[in-house]
Amino acid sequence: MPSHGFQPIEGGQQVIRHRVTKTLVLSVFTAILSSLQFGYNIGVINAPQKIIEQSYNESWISRSELGSPPIDPALLRTLWSLSVAIFSIGGMVSSLSVGVISQWLGRKRAMVINNIFAFLGGSLMGLSQISQSYEMMIVGRFLIGAYSGLASGLVPMYVGEIAPTHLRGALGTLHQLAIVIGILVAQVLGLDMFLGTKSRWSVLFWVTLIPAAVQSLLLPFCPESPRFLYIICEQEAQAKKSLRRITGLLDVSDDLSEMKEEKRQMDSEPKVSIFQIFRSRTYRQPILVAIILQLSQQLSGINAIFYYSTDIFSKAGVEQPIYATIGAGIVNTAFTVVSLFLVERTGRRTLHLFGLAGMIICTLLMTVAMALQDTIPSISSLSMLAIFGFVAFFEIGPGPIPWFIVAELFSQGPRPAAMAIAGCTNWTSNFIIGMFFPYVADLCGPYVFLLFAFLLLGFLIFTYFRVPETRGKSFDEIAHAFRGRNLSLLDMEVKASTELDSLGGGGADEE
Ligand code: GLC
Repeated sequence: MPSHGFQPIEGGQQVIRHRVTKTLVLSVFTAILSSLQFGYNIGVINAPQKIIEQSYNESWISRSELGSPPIDPALLRTLWSLSVAIFSIGGMVSSLSVGVISQWLGRKRAMVINNIFAFLGGSLMGLSQISQSYEMMIVGRFLIGAYSGLASGLVPMYVGEIAPTHLRGALGTLHQLAIVIGILVAQVLGLDMFLGTKSRWSVLFWVTLIPAAVQSLLLPFCPESPRFLYIICEQEAQAKKSLRRITGLLDVSDDLSEMKEEKRQMDSEPKVSIFQIFRSRTYRQPILVAIILQLSQQLSGINAIFYYSTDIFSKAGVEQPIYATIGAGIVNTAFTVVSLFLVERTGRRTLHLFGLAGMIICTLLMTVAMALQDTIPSISSLSMLAIFGFVAFFEIGPGPIPWFIVAELFSQGPRPAAMAIAGCTNWTSNFIIGMFFPYVADLCGPYVFLLFAFLLLGFLIFTYFRVPETRGKSFDEIAHAFRGRNLSLLDMEVKASTELDSLGGGGADEE
């Protein structure tokens, strides 16, 4: 019995519901191995910092003349910061090319080829100790960053395009779930009881070859995105074949007619490049939403926690900061699962608002607790709880939603360029936090998180007034709604909170 057909959702609209087939599961699983790799490399460099720094020092001494002094601490700090931050620079550079590459090679082939970066980057980092070369580590981090930048665009795009409409949010959240599992695995493996030791730390980097190998073996069994095949390559027969595999149905005419409508729309518009997106009135609103949502993810301060948690926990007076860091990783994973179950029920907009509001409360609590640390030492447990709460609220909305909502906000034509812009915004702001948080923290002391509270408040207000609900809408319906909104911007601002009703309305949508 195929459980396929139209079923009503709120507002009396209809949505095509497919059952979850083995091919769909395999394809999503295979794609998010990239997200796992991305997350692993966010987390891997944290715990073994001191040991790797020692190894940099040994490389330095082995290259200098006999009896030379150890590496200058300032130079070591620079080399270390570079090793950490060059990952985001790799991501910034490569995320900009997501649009071009995904159109040229297709989503699937782009993911296969991307693994070359992972193999090269992983091997260079793995070999850096034995070769006594910190340069290899730095170049390896750049390459794995470049891999992650491409993955952060390709995965949400592929998953969004193959997912049935009613599961697009839940499957999109799996990208973030795999990222956070990757972070957690890296945090645990980096402990000194596992691989975080002088003799074993290079294995931590060889581990990156495993997801790359598994993904390369599995991708040939996954179908290419039918939207890419039909709308971009105009291969109707191939697209049908791919749709049949993904849905498990022989008759895929409903999905095909939805894509035909999207293609008709795309053909009636000029081709969209990164620059044209900003110039076009049609895309100005959705690209602004996409950019601000990415900023709300990164400038929330989440990576201040993930890059510097051990330091933050010790300053907050927490004993065993390494274990508190792992605690944050566990909370992070658990609440991404919570979001996974809520996102199709509650909707993206509500969860994002809820997450941002919760994060503001937690930043205020953190500030109070850190400011009172010297007067009331036992308040350190409040700091820890507030940090855990901050991470939990992040994963309810601002963690997963910005990644997949960009693919939802744009139809096939502008989607790749929009993903590139959103990805680059994300990576650039990630870099800024990674690079400058320590300096700002030194400057502001316990009040540093107040800065994030202000930014979060701004994002909350923006989301309330400008971000539409996309749950249960076809790509075409969403694009229609945005076109309609351009006609009456003021009206839209007033009605933003009732967006669900206006989205399905169609109506006056051409400029
Ligand atoms: C998101 C962010 C990433 C962050 C992670 C934490 O994926 O993009 O920068 O480290 O969440 O869970």
